[in-house]
Amino acid sequence: MKTRTLGSTGPTVSALGLGCMGMSDLYGPADDAEGVATISAALDAGVTLLDTGDFYGAGHNELLIREALTGRSRDEVAISVKFGALRGPEGSWLGVDGRPAAVKSSLAYTLRRLGTDHVDVYRLARLDPAVPVEETVGAIAELVRAGYVRHVGLSEVGADTIRRAHAVHPVADLQIEYSLLSRGIEDEILPITRELGIGITAYGVLSRGLLSGHWTPERETAVTDFRSHSPRFQGENLQQNLRLVEALRAVAEGRGATVAQAAIAWVLSRGEDIVPLVGARRRDRLDEALGALDLQLSADDLAAIEAAVPASAVAGTRYDAGQMAFLDSERRSDGA
Ligand SMILES: NC(=O)c1ccc[n+]([C@@H]2O[C@H](COP(=O)([O-])OP(=O)(O)OC[C@H]3O[C@@H](n4cnc5c(N)ncnc54)[C@H](OP(=O)(O)O)[C@@H]3O)[C@@H](O)[C@H]2O)c1
Repeated sequence: MKTRTLGSTGPTVSALGLGCMGMSDLYGPADDAEGVATISAALDAGVTLLDTGDFYGAGHNELLIREALTGRSRDEVAISVKFGALRGPEGSWLGVDGRPAAVKSSLAYTLRRLGTDHVDVYRLARLDPAVPVEETVGAIAELVRAGYVRHVGLSEVGADTIRRAHAVHPVADLQIEYSLLSRGIEDEILPITRELGIGITAYGVLSRGLLSGHWTPERETAVTDFRSHSPRFQGENLQQNLRLVEALRAVAEGRGATVAQAAIAWVLSRGEDIVPLVGARRRDRLDEALGALDLQLSADDLAAIEAAVPASAVAGTRYDAGQMAFLDSERRSDGA
């Protein structure tokens, strides 16, 4: 398994991480046994980075990971956990809590659910507008000093917040959406993480399945499925985006690869500081995703991929308007 190091202070992990979210939440019905089998298969294949959130299925996702890790050495895997998103019992989203007391309380529950004495990377899922990032990161730093957390991470924050957080405690990685269809970080965020020695764990590398080659307009989504209200999956936007997928398919197949493999390999090619998280929740999808590690793309191949999927051609924003307005990562440091 190829490895990459998360920033100048973070852990060395497999070049692809496994994001476990869809095994519990947000992408419609999922099969627990297949989720555990997928995590186990990933570990057997040499994947050493698992990403979760305590709010994915209100603790369910952490319990799946615990089951998959049973009987294995804790040291063989780095677990990255997001916290702070508040959920109601019926799955509603109630806001964000980044207060220091919430940081510590959330971790206490996470450690119990995971059945471990430490988390490798701990991060607030979304900036809490009511709490200065220094206070949230300061609380995580206390947990680092106490041995419960190994590294501080960030999620979906912009340039100013990255600098402020890093000044409190070195940040291992920023988790943020990055794919052929979502290249927004290249403008301002990536130069700053590179300047500061912060790694990127990229999510949505397949644009939540849109860029996988397996999505069809006929696919039905439950109302709780993120994609049932994601702008990119609606009506004419979807038609346009699937045209891009077909253009990518032609390039990928010419290289003996699938659409998903080309999309993942493209993100891998963007720098050694970037670790794509793949959201496979079935073993067959995981196998396909891991195949991206063997795909060697020449400069001509990369140019053909970018010509097939020009960033400007994507239809629809990556989140709905309310979320886009809330995302710290969508705010530029010059206020534009
Ligand atoms: N920090 C944040 O704000 C944030 C936000 C979202 C996610 N994340 C993390 O990032 C991880 C990855 O994000 P994501 O799940 O949205 O990413 P993704 O990899 O772009 O999308 C995963 C979806 O792609 C589909 N897919 C089709 N072929 C696939 C293949 N070969 N390999 C993998 N997936 C394939 C899966 O569909 P089917 O199973 O339906 O076939 C799954 O629903 C999450 O699990 C989570 O840990 C973080």
